[in-house]
Amino acid sequence: MSGISESLRTYQQRVDATLERVLPAANVMPVRLHDAMRYSVLEGGKRVRPLLVYATGEALGVAPEVLDIPAVSVEMIHAYSLVHDDLPAMDDDDLRRGKPSCHRQFDEATAILVGDALQAQAFQLLASATELDVPAVQRLRMVQQLGRAAGSRGMVGGQAIDLDAVGHSLTEIELENMHIHKTGALIRCSVLLAAYCSTRLDESQLAKLDHYAKCIGLAFQVQDDILDVEGDTDTLGKMNGADAAAGKPTYPSIIGIAAAKKKLHTLHDEAVRALDGMNADLLLEIAEFTVKRLH
Ligand code: IPE
Ligand code: IPE
Ligand code: MG
Ligand code: MG
Ligand code: MG
Repeated sequence: MSGISESLRTYQQRVDATLERVLPAANVMPVRLHDAMRYSVLEGGKRVRPLLVYATGEALGVAPEVLDIPAVSVEMIHAYSLVHDDLPAMDDDDLRRGKPSCHRQFDEATAILVGDALQAQAFQLLASATELDVPAVQRLRMVQQLGRAAGSRGMVGGQAIDLDAVGHSLTEIELENMHIHKTGALIRCSVLLAAYCSTRLDESQLAKLDHYAKCIGLAFQVQDDILDVEGDTDTLGKMNGADAAAGKPTYPSIIGIAAAKKKLHTLHDEAVRALDGMNADLLLEIAEFTVKRLH
């Protein structure tokens, strides 16, 4: 990820090191499944959701050691969502993070199981890792939050709306609703997980962070839609033009590319305003990255 600060880069390395440590080794039985899990999670991801966990933690004075498990839990759910998103029954994409997608490198059944296993492990870690040193009531709140964000009222619900929408036109409100669920929910969850680690959470700060997270979550998918039109396959690490080829309703296809860019900037500005009065430099940097990123 070019052009990011040293702090974010250091956190990315921290995420990679934690993932490396918590994922089963590739020589542990069943080796094909574990190999495929590591293939799908390690290398190539921007780690935006874990970065949001650490950036929120910094704004609230939460120690990074407490945030490692929430950070990798949300990344594992995200990585599983990508593996399933690429399956032939869903978006049928052959390229992910610059490599053959999981079902191309391995096979479809393995890709389904990779997603299942990553999801289960994310919850296991969040529920039981001792290094997540917070009172049980806070841990429970985090498990509930991740469950809600990942499930049929969150990311999976958004994916269902997405598949149902193929070949149809949506209103802008319907499109926004789809994006808020399929992508916004896990991004919002990343910020909330870190907030729930804080022992002295102030309700007005929580409301500000939540508003920031909602704006960034939607903006992230608006830019994803724009990059599908304007990005190139090499930089994206996934096929460009995939949305149009699959007949997906997107911001550019529904409101046009210029209006999509305007929407992106409006959301960025609203996210920045939400943090008014908070000391949240890294969250501001992630907001900027969300709208300027090229992959
Ligand atoms: C891609 O997410 C899918 C969306 C939800 C938009 P990212 O752009 O965060 O993908 P990685 O994790 O960096 O590969
Ligand atoms: C991603 O939407 C939403 C997920 C939950 C994975 P897309 O289908 O647009 O993501 P990409 O473009 O394949 O990464
Ligand atoms: Mg999709
Ligand atoms: Mg896709
Ligand atoms: Mg996309």
